[in-house]
Amino acid sequence: MCGIMGYVGERDAAEVLLDGLRRLEYRGYDSAGIAVACDGRIEVRKTAGKLSRLAELLRKEPVRGTVGIGHTRWATHGQPTDTNAHPHADESGRFVVIHNGIIENFLPLREELERRGHVFRSDTDTEVLAHLIEEEYRGELAEATRRAIQRARGAYALVAMCADEPGRVVAVRMISPLVIGFGEGEMLLASDIPALLPYTREVLVVEDGEMAVLTKEGAHLYRLDGTPVERARMYVTWNAEQAERGGFPHFMLKEIFEQPRALTETMMGRVGPDGRIALEDVHFPDGFPEELEKIWITACGTAYHAGLVGRVLFERLLRLPVEVDYAHELRYRDPVIGPHTLTVAISQSGETADTLAAARLCRARRSRVLAITNVVGSTLSREADDILYTRAGPEIAVASTKAYLAMLVAQVLLALYLGERRGGLDPKVRTELVHELQRLPARVQEILDAHEEIVGLARRLCEAEHMYFIGRGLDYAVAMEGSLKLKEISYLHSEAMPAGELKHGTLALVTHGTPVVVVLTQHDVYEKTVSGLQEVKARGGYVIAVAYADDEHIAKHADTVLRIPRTHDLLSPVLAIVPLQLLAYYVARERGHDIDQPRNLAKSVTVE
Ligand code: G6P
Repeated sequence: MCGIMGYVGERDAAEVLLDGLRRLEYRGYDSAGIAVACDGRIEVRKTAGKLSRLAELLRKEPVRGTVGIGHTRWATHGQPTDTNAHPHADESGRFVVIHNGIIENFLPLREELERRGHVFRSDTDTEVLAHLIEEEYRGELAEATRRAIQRARGAYALVAMCADEPGRVVAVRMISPLVIGFGEGEMLLASDIPALLPYTREVLVVEDGEMAVLTKEGAHLYRLDGTPVERARMYVTWNAEQAERGGFPHFMLKEIFEQPRALTETMMGRVGPDGRIALEDVHFPDGFPEELEKIWITACGTAYHAGLVGRVLFERLLRLPVEVDYAHELRYRDPVIGPHTLTVAISQSGETADTLAAARLCRARRSRVLAITNVVGSTLSREADDILYTRAGPEIAVASTKAYLAMLVAQVLLALYLGERRGGLDPKVRTELVHELQRLPARVQEILDAHEEIVGLARRLCEAEHMYFIGRGLDYAVAMEGSLKLKEISYLHSEAMPAGELKHGTLALVTHGTPVVVVLTQHDVYEKTVSGLQEVKARGGYVIAVAYADDEHIAKHADTVLRIPRTHDLLSPVLAIVPLQLLAYYVARERGHDIDQPRNLAKSVTVE
């Protein structure tokens, strides 16, 4: 996820671009840059770091012009450095591009272009687009861009400029968002509406597979085969603050709804057509996967709960012993760890002090450390031997949602990858998992489409004093995360435990009406969990089950059922957590709390 901005008009382009990028900074903030057409050339200013550094650079080295493009980056390929910051240009500097998203086949494209003599400056996937457009240019930027993108695969939004056509900006949308703003004698373009609002409220959303050509007189929209598109403009009534949240009342809800895209992006380019897994920043030495004796997962908070899922996945698929430890425990535990152990350190931010310390300890004991993190260039990613980036985009709400789902999928990819390298993974299971993995984004979307059903339940539960979450195996891991979500934002006391443990103490607290969430997706322990559920019912507890849509038995036992689409049991956590995230959200809303910034908590804990 990155922020894109474009301007064609009469004002000082650099000023407009910088202002727009400020409003898009929530989409990414590791580097930024602008390109402005002036005197027959395109001037680029870009730098690593937050926008304030770009503003400082522009004060020292101003650019004057009335047409330009700007970008605030959330890295996916290449570290957040000055060189990797957007815009990117071809060798001549006449063709300049910015881009949000991923070009899946950028490596073969880059190799091909290099063979033809192109020289690359950055490590990004974006730069191939500048070179491709340059190769395809025969006097018309729009045509060259159309031809260039026919060779690129992926999900992206691309904006291009050419020094020979200074009054024009060309943009293409393939999945990643793009909105056009219509001003008086000026036209704008952005990844999201907030950047446009100071200039206009008349917008048009570019759809997938469409190209927009902007001049200061207006915009022309085409399908990629060149057919013109006519679509009515929209009038935006949101205020700036609502707009930043994409019209959602809170970032948390917005991020819950971004989960299908977070999953798609995390898988993109990593699952081949033959089902083989490619992990671009994992470089295990020869023999390492085969000689692996143990996996040790370490993390905190939600990332630790993702690790609980990972434990079951790695154990089942790789038949290796797996430990999962809170990082703050592991670092003082004197663990028996060595070169045949793979440490998997999971952290959304890549900056959690405890997780960094645990990873350093494991590394000092000669364990290879693989980081699963959402932030390219974070301390964890820099210190780890291998990296598996989740591509959830910046997460703003303190309560983590989309990063958690992406961590789950990242671990499935890692398990399949290791399974391929080690051999011994049942080909039938592998095929089924790969097949089901690719259907997860659509299945999460199905749950989100039915989100209103949870509002009524939340109203019923918002007065509760305590709540319990139970499940077995993977369902227990989901119960832990569901309970944490509820606690974090609703301040309602809740506890999660394995379903079999309830009777060893906590059952004493279950009385008439006590809400108990039971997660029931694992067929091998289904009956056992149902017995736990009956213990709750017998004490008058109010049972909320999370179960598959085709589970015909559960309605007999539970008071309310939150249904999820059926999937492979090993993937069910990705779906089962979604109704619980929504439940936590709506309960907190009913209770009137500050959902995005809950009391006493921080998004990233960088001190011990
Ligand atoms: C904080 C946040 C949690 C998060 C945990 C770990 O406590 O409030 O939401 O899960 O840190 O963060 P990390 O960035 O390492 O995943």
